[in-house]
Amino acid sequence: MPSTPDAGPVAARPDPSAAGTRLGTRTVFSRCAATVNLIACLQDGMATGMTATSVCSLSLDPPSALICVHREARTRDAIVAAGTFVINVLSRGQEELANRFSRPGSDKAIPAELLNTHAGPDASYPVLNGVAGALMCRLANVVDFGSHSIMIGLVEQVIEGPADAEPLVYHDRRYVTTVADLDHLARRITDESLISALGW
Ligand SMILES: Cc1cc2nc3c(=O)[nH]c(=O)nc-3n(C[C@H](O)[C@H](O)[C@H](O)COP(=O)(O)O)c2cc1C
Repeated sequence: MPSTPDAGPVAARPDPSAAGTRLGTRTVFSRCAATVNLIACLQDGMATGMTATSVCSLSLDPPSALICVHREARTRDAIVAAGTFVINVLSRGQEELANRFSRPGSDKAIPAELLNTHAGPDASYPVLNGVAGALMCRLANVVDFGSHSIMIGLVEQVIEGPADAEPLVYHDRRYVTTVADLDHLARRITDESLISALGW
């Protein structure tokens, strides 16, 4: 069956078992493009972090956000102990960081040279250099559900990042660029084609 958006309904997953639903849910999640973040906090005075896409705006009243962290992730307990965390919105080009901080069991200490020491009210908020933006949060609530903890943060301070910042996006299990960027690229190619066609 064709899978283009204008080709009409697509077949439902044929396997209605619990395992089939789990697999199907995973597949549908992989269709959801998501911004990649590095969630960071202080652990025994050292900055530590993990890659996460389960990050969502919650409210502006009060400014708040939520992150979903696996209950067995070391970062979960580190955030609870610290009582604060930073949502570092990674920029396009920071794929290496995303890979490094998503490796299970690897050392998640953030080297000092990656940190923006001028950001934030104090050193308890590990903000990374070169990010598209950062939300410095105080942990307000933790709700455990299934394998994950939903962690709610009250935003205490922000780093807006450059106005033309491009976030790192994860889609179909790989890092991709944003649509806005493709539009930009298409415009540039059109401009360049026009320029060469007109002999400018
Ligand atoms: C693109 C991407 C997104 C991820 N998003 C999340 C997430 O939202 N929540 C989560 O718990 N783990 C997520 N992970 C997995 C964690 O980064 C990974 O389990 C990490 O090793 C946990 O580290 P820790 O146990 O040292 O805290 C993601 C991994 C990748 C590659």
